[in-house]
Amino acid sequence: MAEAALEAARARFTARNPNSKRIHDDATGSLPGGNTRSVLHTAPFPVAMKSGKGCHVVDEDDHEYVDFVGEFTAGLYGHSQPIIVETLHRTIEQVGLNLGACTAQEVQYAKLLCERFSLDRVRFCNSGTEANLHALAAARRSTGRKKVVVFEGGYHGAVLSFGHGVAANNVDASDWVLAKYNDADSARAAIAETADVAAVLVEGMQGAGGCIPARQDFLIAVQEAATKVGAIFILDEVMTSRLAPGGLQSMMGLSPDLTTLGKYLGGGLAFGAFGGREHVMRVYDPRERDALAHSGTFNNNTLAMHAGFAGLSRVYTPEASESLTRVGEDLLRRLRTVTQGTKATFTGMGSIMSLHITDSGICDAGEREDLKELFWLEMMESGFWITRRGMLALILDTPQADLDRFVDTVSAFLQRHGELLAVA
Ligand SMILES: Cc1ncc(COP(=O)(O)O)c(C=O)c1O
Repeated sequence: MAEAALEAARARFTARNPNSKRIHDDATGSLPGGNTRSVLHTAPFPVAMKSGKGCHVVDEDDHEYVDFVGEFTAGLYGHSQPIIVETLHRTIEQVGLNLGACTAQEVQYAKLLCERFSLDRVRFCNSGTEANLHALAAARRSTGRKKVVVFEGGYHGAVLSFGHGVAANNVDASDWVLAKYNDADSARAAIAETADVAAVLVEGMQGAGGCIPARQDFLIAVQEAATKVGAIFILDEVMTSRLAPGGLQSMMGLSPDLTTLGKYLGGGLAFGAFGGREHVMRVYDPRERDALAHSGTFNNNTLAMHAGFAGLSRVYTPEASESLTRVGEDLLRRLRTVTQGTKATFTGMGSIMSLHITDSGICDAGEREDLKELFWLEMMESGFWITRRGMLALILDTPQADLDRFVDTVSAFLQRHGELLAVA
């Protein structure tokens, strides 16, 4: 029955997106599988977007959507936030793109990040992936050790992905020790019983892993166990720093040795940063003998330094962060209410959340990918752009009417496919 509904939805999708199909067919001639960013590949072919304004996007077949992808949290400011747009124009016209030099602006932004996220020192890079790689290098150099404890389902970047039970696509699999997420005993055992642990790297909410929030007692146990063996506790806040003015660590009472950042903090441009305790970050102090090199042509590029600073100082103020988290919590509560008693459920925190569909209706059972695909296809038909995996990341100032319509649309989907979605 699910197959029939899915086949019909796929056929409608293909019929209403001829230009996207043409672009994809064309792309396969120069990009492997027509793709340069794996997460955006979808069957039968991906939708190609043409433009975006505010919190809306328009595809190549002229369908308009409310943007709930929010560029996987990097799109927090939306597509045309006036302060960001004005800052970019001013930077291009009055500053220049690549000065090949240290600038006063990077100092200003570094100070703001240190203040907001309780860091002694910070360094900039170009992505969250890089931020984690450099943080790990700092941990290894400062401890003189090698191994890293990470968690099943964790995602820390393109080459740092830890699906359940596998360390896939990683630099050197022998360096990783996998523990169970949200399981304090498993974490304690992995940290205490492994020799040579340089760092423990953890997300406060597994983002790519399905928006699974960590329990506070788990995170505190991880921090304590790392500290006890002299390992560096690295909190990956690449996604979660938006959840509170001081990031998730401030909500959970954590004090990580290093924090990694990225996404929206570049104001919409490529960005990463890592920072924390002075004695650890000192390994990158070029005045020191044997300092680690941390180069990167675009580390302090003017557009990201200016737009990131303008965004965090003038738009995503502490008050705006608190307000967006409240809006997200309200949406999450309503989505949980309408999905109650069905195979569907939503997990997440604040403005970052994810759909799960499982036979039991509990999110840790196997996902019903067929029903999730049906949901995704039908949400697009109703004008909502969401990720194929079901994750939503809210954009600032998304009108309440769009949020209300989404809740109604989810509710209508559940009713329309009542039999398919009822828990047996
Ligand atoms: C928690 C987390 N860490 C790191 C990354 C990697 O960031 P980037 O895609 O900027 O390399 C991501 C990206 O989704 C992430 O969610």
